[in-house]
Amino acid sequence: MSRSAHPAGPRHADVYPEGHYTAPADDLNLLDEKVWSRTVRRQDNGVVAVGGIEVTRLAEEFGTPAYFLDESDFRARCRAWSDAFGPNADVFYAGKAFLSRAVVRWLKEEGLNLDVCSGGELITALEAGMPADRIAFHGNNKSTEEIERAVDAGVGRIVLDSYQEIVRVAHVAQSRGKRQRVQIRVTVGVEAHTHEFIATAHEDQKFGIALAGGQAAEAVRRVLKLDGLELIGIHSHIGSQIFDMAGFEVSARRVVQLLAEVRDEHGVELPEIDLGGGLGIAYTSEDDPSEPHEIAKSLLEIVTRECETHGLTTPRISVEPGRAIVGPTAFTLYEVGTIKPLEGLRTYVSVDGGMSDNIRTALYDAEYSVALVSRTSTAEPMLSRVVGKHCESGDIVVRDAFLPADLAPGDLIAVPATGAYCRSMASNYNHSLRPPVVVVRDGEARVIVRRETEEDLLRLDVG
Ligand code: LLP
Repeated sequence: MSRSAHPAGPRHADVYPEGHYTAPADDLNLLDEKVWSRTVRRQDNGVVAVGGIEVTRLAEEFGTPAYFLDESDFRARCRAWSDAFGPNADVFYAGKAFLSRAVVRWLKEEGLNLDVCSGGELITALEAGMPADRIAFHGNNKSTEEIERAVDAGVGRIVLDSYQEIVRVAHVAQSRGKRQRVQIRVTVGVEAHTHEFIATAHEDQKFGIALAGGQAAEAVRRVLKLDGLELIGIHSHIGSQIFDMAGFEVSARRVVQLLAEVRDEHGVELPEIDLGGGLGIAYTSEDDPSEPHEIAKSLLEIVTRECETHGLTTPRISVEPGRAIVGPTAFTLYEVGTIKPLEGLRTYVSVDGGMSDNIRTALYDAEYSVALVSRTSTAEPMLSRVVGKHCESGDIVVRDAFLPADLAPGDLIAVPATGAYCRSMASNYNHSLRPPVVVVRDGEARVIVRRETEEDLLRLDVG
């Protein structure tokens, strides 16, 4: 993940220690539009608003910490992805990034499909009315019960992840007299340039069936022999928060190569390929993600070119962006609590949430931005570490960022780009209550996932 190794520059070099942070912006009150959702503005009175509603009002009404999601931004991003890929491709939103019934309804209305990877995501999708044929079911260890539910619901595709699963899905489909549409997830052997825990196409990890050693070709052989399965294509997902298109290109090339081998061996041209998700977003001003139309152009071109080389008809392409759709659309709003300046180091700013609402910093060393949003300030920049209220020192939300030196308890600060993998990976650590997701649109705000209560906690504790 991008990180400037050199700190603040001459103005701060003597004051602040070595560390991984960039120089403070000239004006800390300015919000970099790259990292904030589209309707976020700082108003003339200094308060930041989203969808036309001031954060001070949102905090009063919904409390903190809370995630505020910009619905029109979410919808615009859905449209940008489906317009970019056009009518000969399918966009599957990856529900693991963030899923709720409201999200499913928006996807349905915006014409997107949905990738789910658990019984829980599947039931949410179906309950909210997503047509089953627009659902793809993923996972490296789907239970028989999950497979049965997916087959019974009539999901559009199940992405097969192992030899065992080929047999299991075929068995379930046959027992119902059905023919299940499937893809085979292959591991293309690409080292994606991202954090080790979110890279998925190198060989030494748990996902997919390796192209290497002919294992994927063997999976194709097995699937084609089974009456309960209809093989519609090959799937590859190389990792997450990736900026460099080179990995996708290699992946596309290797997947098309397999299609050619399948054609040569079996006389069958598989009609689809899925290149997965993984496109990076801007968490800080340093990050420079490509736009959906640039990504689509380069992926479509490479697949078309490779198919021409092999004399194949270009298959229908699908992609599965999760983070790139929902990530930039939300921010987390916190209230500042204790503030501890550590002489010669930095100032620890504690907020009323932490690793329970955003585990990404602790888990992946992820970087975030932060801003004072309840007022403006002309105070000097103060090197800060935004930390949570949990009982461990790794409970960091923003490792190094500049906040104004007059920051005080009760101020509201917001961390942008928390729409993906924050609420969906939130926990009850220290018996904290998971924050709500509040949707803001055209001057109106409504809760789509409510805040947990102490009763929720106690209800599960039946001992
Ligand atoms: N398709 C498949 C098969 C996936 O496994 C994933 C993500 C996606 C699509 C969507 O990837 P995206 O476009 O959101 O990068 N918790 C980590 C990310 C884990 C991603 C898992 N799979 C994080 O917070 O960075």
